Amino acid sequence: MSSCNTQLNPHYLKVVMAPNDFSGQVALVTGGGSGIGRATCLMLARDGARVVVTDINLEAARETLSLMPNHVDHLALEMDVTQQSAVEGVIAVAQERFGEPPSLLVNNAGIARGSLCHLMEEKDFDIVVNVNLKVDKLEAAGTFLVSQAFIRALLKDSEAGKRAGAIVNMSSIDGKSGHEKHCQYSATKGGLVSLTKSCAAELAKKGIRVNCVLPGAIDTRMTAAVDPEMRKRQHERTPIGRTGRPEEVAEVIVFLLSWRSSYMVGACVEITGGLHM
Ligand SMILES: NC(=O)c1ccc[n+]([C@@H]2O[C@H](COP(=O)([O-])OP(=O)(O)OC[C@H]3O[C@@H](n4cnc5c(N)ncnc54)[C@H](O)[C@@H]3O)[C@@H](O)[C@H]2O)c1
Repeated sequence: MSSCNTQLNPHYLKVVMAPNDFSGQVALVTGGGSGIGRATCLMLARDGARVVVTDINLEAARETLSLMPNHVDHLALEMDVTQQSAVEGVIAVAQERFGEPPSLLVNNAGIARGSLCHLMEEKDFDIVVNVNLKVDKLEAAGTFLVSQAFIRALLKDSEAGKRAGAIVNMSSIDGKSGHEKHCQYSATKGGLVSLTKSCAAELAKKGIRVNCVLPGAIDTRMTAAVDPEMRKRQHERTPIGRTGRPEEVAEVIVFLLSWRSSYMVGACVEITGGLHM
């Protein structure tokens, strides 16, 4: 048997010792004004990326920017992920500012509207599907508007032989387990798993890796309204016995964007403290 498995070759040793290094890369984060998106923006900036913080709420995006070291290296822009023209506009502005399109994308923006399935109004179904998944346009079927614009810009750029990229989609453990009063939310998050795998299969050979994360209950604005009794039950059902912190999800997202996960394609990583494993 070859001894190469038991020895660290010099190249691998260098890789093991190096920190995440996104220097020279532009990262686009949707829903970057709060919670998991904000934590992800801060970590990407920590690790050297130039970050485009986008959110439907510009003030919130600007607040994230103000928390970054060297915030002049980054950009805060208003972007509603359901608006194709806004999405294309943001990619163009980022490209103009940084001289290249983003090569890292975190499709984080998401919303929930709670209701029992049989009482749910159609508009509450549609808005959650549109923000979280966006499959209602035939030409964009199965694809996020944001992913589509990002991929097009990056492939155009890569044709000039330039750079590889990575996408992380934000699913949820609800996409696997379902969640009462959140049938449409859970359906979009389940859809994101198959969207991730399909895009991953299409893009791997083109140098773009696509993966996704499935968080459990994380302390953010989205879960702030959960009533204390339900929160207590949730803790009891979670083996680790607590809710997660946004940074605990962001660390995994940043890992999936980095060269450390270079052999991960179409992976869906649970970050749940053991909930619904
Ligand atoms: N918090 C949890 O327990 C949990 C668990 C699993 C998955 N998630 C997912 O994580 C993602 C982030 O959620 P969070 O918990 O940080 O919530 P959050 O409410 O703190 O952040 C969501 C951000 O998305 C922005 N946003 C909403 N609609 C938008 C739109 N149309 N365009 C652009 N931005 C928009 C909001 O302004 C906000 O800044 C969501 O996709 C959510 O479904 C959250």
